[in-house]
Amino acid sequence: MNAQAAAYDGRVPKKPSAPRTPLALLDARWTPRPETVRRAALIALVMSVVIVVTGGAVRLTGSGLGCDTWPKCTEDSLVTTPEMGLHGVIEFGNRMLTYVLSAAVGFFIAAARCAAPRRRSLTRLGWAQFWVVMCNAVLGGITVLTGLNPWVVAGHFLLATALITVATVSWVRAREGDDAPRPLVGTPVRRAVAGLTALTAALIVAGTAVTGSGKHAGDNSEDIIRMPFDWETVTGVHAVLAWAVVLGALAVLVGLRLVDAPPGPRARARELMVVLLAQGVIGYVQYFLEEPPLLVGIHMLGSTLTWIATVRLLFSLRERGPAPEAAPEETAPEESAPATSATGTGQDRTTETGIPAAPGQDAPAVPGQDAPAVPGQDAPAVPGQDGGPAPAAQPTGTSSR
Ligand code: HEM
Repeated sequence: MNAQAAAYDGRVPKKPSAPRTPLALLDARWTPRPETVRRAALIALVMSVVIVVTGGAVRLTGSGLGCDTWPKCTEDSLVTTPEMGLHGVIEFGNRMLTYVLSAAVGFFIAAARCAAPRRRSLTRLGWAQFWVVMCNAVLGGITVLTGLNPWVVAGHFLLATALITVATVSWVRAREGDDAPRPLVGTPVRRAVAGLTALTAALIVAGTAVTGSGKHAGDNSEDIIRMPFDWETVTGVHAVLAWAVVLGALAVLVGLRLVDAPPGPRARARELMVVLLAQGVIGYVQYFLEEPPLLVGIHMLGSTLTWIATVRLLFSLRERGPAPEAAPEETAPEESAPATSATGTGQDRTTETGIPAAPGQDAPAVPGQDAPAVPGQDAPAVPGQDGGPAPAAQPTGTSSR
């Protein structure tokens, strides 16, 4: 594969260059299996959900100012003090979880970076997660410094949802290949799902306005300012949007059946329907019970699961070929090809097909994966955009997961 082809498919073979950065040093010593990269992506996604729920626990236990400043916990202490009580422990504990989240994202970046073949698509997504986490850590600090301003609190939640978006895309992409995207359904269904995704995003934004105008904005004390909306009205708008999303998801479910879509998209649409119905029931129950904190927390978890299901549905409408499997030398070192380094020093020159590369050259092309799309055929498409004609519906290994 020449340098141009490498730029095309985003895969970077390991090079025998001298390691200079910590990641390059690690790369020289560790070649994780694709399975490890997939697990790392899933761990980062789970952690991004956990941080939303624990952030909710801070708000719902009235611990938002448990540490009264940022980046220190108090004027005189980096960590919580006995005077800050349980609220300090809860708020400071949530701050510490940011490090666990960062470690999970770091693990994904490292695994994607050191895998063979290295997939640029995944390393970029990993770094995108890292920068969203950094921005949200700062926004979390601004939340404290502004005395839990509801607009900042809402922004903090929405940025956490953005992290969940990138983490979900990373997980989906780690489980599929890098072929040009091939649509699995026709344009009308793809447009409908893109519309449903936009509507769900609007529903989530409206939810933050319900929170910001209600009794749990920032925390439940009278001192915290609220968004200037009538709570009943904004809750009504939120509920109407929820109904619109449920009906939209139902229409997509029926539409996918009518066009005889592959099992993957249909399974994703069913999952979204189930999560939406559960979330709707929780929403009504918490409304009629005047917002018990535990239910509000579960509603926040439901919001993250709803969004994950929506993003997965969106991405299930196209396929990009099977995910790369472990190179032969990773699974059975004794059977590896002659060009493969026996030491695992990161200088291995064998692709996942087991075809060795000549010394000093890039690894050879993977048959059927590296050829650029033929003009006029299967134009790369992302869901929600026109991507050429939809081919006959065909179940694939990746789409039914
Ligand atoms: C079915 C999909 C639904 C989704 C995805 C959703 C999502 C959300 C989100 C993201 C929030 C803001 C969380 C926060 O800022 O911390 C929220 C708050 C809220 N939602 Fe929903 N919601 C849904 C359905 C409903 C329904 C049907 C109701 C019924 C009225 C409802 C009632 C509420 C209430 C009362 C709040 C404010 C909770 C608080 O004080 O923090 N939701 N929702």
